[in-house]
Amino acid sequence: MRILFIGDIFGGVGRKAVKTLLPDLKKKFDPTFILVNGENAAGGRGITAAIAKELYEQGVHGITLGNHTWDNKDIFNFIDDDERMIRPANYPPGTPGKGFTVLRNASGKELALVNVMGRTFLPPIDCPFQTVDGILDKLKKKHKYIFVDFHAEATSEKIAMGWHLDGKVSAVVGTHTHVQTNDERILPKGTAYLTDVGMTGPRDGVLGMEREAVLQKFKTQLPVRFTADEGKWQFHAVVVTLDNDTGLAKKIELIRRFETEMIFE
Ligand SMILES: [Fe+2]
Ligand SMILES: [Fe+2]
Repeated sequence: MRILFIGDIFGGVGRKAVKTLLPDLKKKFDPTFILVNGENAAGGRGITAAIAKELYEQGVHGITLGNHTWDNKDIFNFIDDDERMIRPANYPPGTPGKGFTVLRNASGKELALVNVMGRTFLPPIDCPFQTVDGILDKLKKKHKYIFVDFHAEATSEKIAMGWHLDGKVSAVVGTHTHVQTNDERILPKGTAYLTDVGMTGPRDGVLGMEREAVLQKFKTQLPVRFTADEGKWQFHAVVVTLDNDTGLAKKIELIRRFETEMIFE
């Protein structure tokens, strides 16, 4: 079992990066499942049904989200019906959508996918640790391959979640900060861990947004409208290889590519 997870796809530039690189990555890694974080896929803010469809057609099996889940109102039209898309599980009960799902690929293999969100420097939602424990109680009896996207700002909260889930899930990867960390490892009890996968989108803005507006905001503190940057892309992902007997991790590899340095190994 091998899983390719692509970090926060940002706007049209990020979608172009995925379209450009995915055929090559499929060939190189032969992933059993392809996952993406899609919270910024629609111009940096949320995701639409059309964009989700476009990703599924390229071979994406599952989509996770984050604090930008609700930014594009189209989400309310389809999230309840999309079995392959999840939003953070620790939103209050009754929130549209779901926080975990079981994906099935063409050859019948199953992968449980979980999305939780940190609450340090993010909206104060339910406890991600308790929420994930509740989900694992449900999943553990039937599933050995469990992949967790922990969408969080604070490095400490993400590392803590890694330790909390070590030995209980296949992998815990962080999303949200849009900058890839180089601390990938397999924790002592067998869970693959990475603090942040990084963003797939424009490289020369600020976290995906056009940089002049962000600079103006920092310098003046006046209200400024941010727009998605339209420049060249960067691509960030992670590949996790799992043991077929235990479901735990054997290998974790980072992927980082730039439009300006198209290198295909
Ligand atoms: Fe993001
Ligand atoms: Fe986010």
